[in-house]
Amino acid sequence: MPPPEPLPSDPDVIRPKRAAPAEIVRPTRAEVSLQALRDNLRTLRRYAGPAAVWAVLKADGYGHGAPAVARTLERAGADGFCVALLEEAIELRDAGVMKPILVMGGYYASAYAELAARHLTPVIYDLRQVEAIARLVRSGAIAAPVDAHLKIDTGMARLGVTLRELDAFAARLGKFPEVKISGLMTHLACADALTSEETAEQMARFEEATILLARYGVNPKIRHAANSAALLRSQARLDFVRPGVAMFGISPPLPAGAVDTPLTSALKQVMRVRTEIVALRSIAPGSAAGYGATWHAPKESVIATIAMGYADGLSRALSNRGEVLVRGKRAPIVGTVSMDMTMVDVTAIDGASIGDEVVVLGAQDGPLGSGFLGADEIARHCDTIPWEVMCAISRRVPRFYRES
Ligand SMILES: Cc1ncc(COP(=O)(O)O)c(C=O)c1O
Repeated sequence: MPPPEPLPSDPDVIRPKRAAPAEIVRPTRAEVSLQALRDNLRTLRRYAGPAAVWAVLKADGYGHGAPAVARTLERAGADGFCVALLEEAIELRDAGVMKPILVMGGYYASAYAELAARHLTPVIYDLRQVEAIARLVRSGAIAAPVDAHLKIDTGMARLGVTLRELDAFAARLGKFPEVKISGLMTHLACADALTSEETAEQMARFEEATILLARYGVNPKIRHAANSAALLRSQARLDFVRPGVAMFGISPPLPAGAVDTPLTSALKQVMRVRTEIVALRSIAPGSAAGYGATWHAPKESVIATIAMGYADGLSRALSNRGEVLVRGKRAPIVGTVSMDMTMVDVTAIDGASIGDEVVVLGAQDGPLGSGFLGADEIARHCDTIPWEVMCAISRRVPRFYRES
C-alpha cells in the first residue's frame, strides 16, 4: 500500500504513556534486569565483530520499557537504536537518548519535519516519501537535507523497493538532493535457520541492488541486514546489525534437534514476571476449576489463585497447559485463564501459602528448588513465538528495573 498523502499540517504525534509503578497495589510486576541487558550487549558484540550494534527497541523495547532499556544500552556502548514508529523514537529522545535512531516503519506523512527536528533517521521505501521530504526542505520546514536509509525488498515482500522497481527509483532519486541516502538496508525472512538458501539469495539480491545504485551515484556509507537470527547464525553482518529479541536474552528458536551457535547460551533472559498467591482452597475429587469447568480435580487438591490473567499477558492459550513456579517448583495452570486471575494446582507444593511469590516468566529460587520458565517454552505452549510472549505483557503490569 502506498504511504498516506501528507496531511495539511503536521499531526500531533501521540506520545506513549504507561502506568507508573507508584500507581500499583497488585503484587504483579515485570522485573527487568539491566545487568542482563548489558551482558547481552557484550555477548552480541562478540558476534558482531567490527559491525556496529543498533538495538531494535520497537514495541516499547519488546515490552521491557524502551526508555529505560535505551538509556541503559546507550551507557553500555550501543551504537544506535531502531524503532518502528515515530512515536517510539520521540519517546526515546524525550527520555534523553542521544545516539542515532532509525525509524523503520516509514509511514510518517508530513511528520517528517518533527523527525528531522529530533535528528531521527527515516527509512525510505517509496518515492512519495522522498518527494514529501523534498517539499518540506524546499519550503524551509526542514532546514537541511535529510539523511535517510533506503530499504530494499530482497524477498520479504513487506517493505522496500523491489529490484524490479529499483532502476526507475534510482533515476528519480537523483532529482531530490534534499534526501541523502546514507544507509542501505534489507530484512531477511529466513535467517532463523542455521543455513538458508533464502538468506543467501536475499543477500545476493542486496549486492545486486548495491551495484545498481552505485551506477546512479548512490553509495550509502553503511549497509545492514541482520536481525538477531542473522547476527547469530549467518555471515550477513555487514556494517551494522539490528538485534531485537537476542538483546533481551532470547535466541530465535531453531527447528527441533538443531544445535545453536556456541555463544547463544551466554544470552540471559532480561525479563522476569512475578505475581503472588492471593487465594487458596482445598477442593474435593471431581470438583471443577475456572470458566467452563474445563478441569476437574483428579483427587483432593489445593488450588491457588494468582493475581495475573490474560489482560496482563498471561495467555489464555496456557489454560490447562502452562506451568508457573511456586517455592522454586513447577505447578500446573488448571482451568481457563481468566482476565485478571489464574488458578494453579499447588497440591504438590509443600507449604504453599497466600502471599507466596509465583513466577510466570523467568527464574525462581525457593525452599523446594530452583526453576526457570523461558519465553520460548511459554511460546511453544501458546503456539506462538517468544517475541509475542514478551510484547504481550500488558501495560497494566508495571516494569521494575533492577541493576543486578
Ligand atoms: C526491520 C527489522 N530489523 C530487525 C528486527 C529485529 O528482529 P529480531 O527481534 O528478530 O532480532 C526487526 C524485528 O522484527 C525488524 O522488523
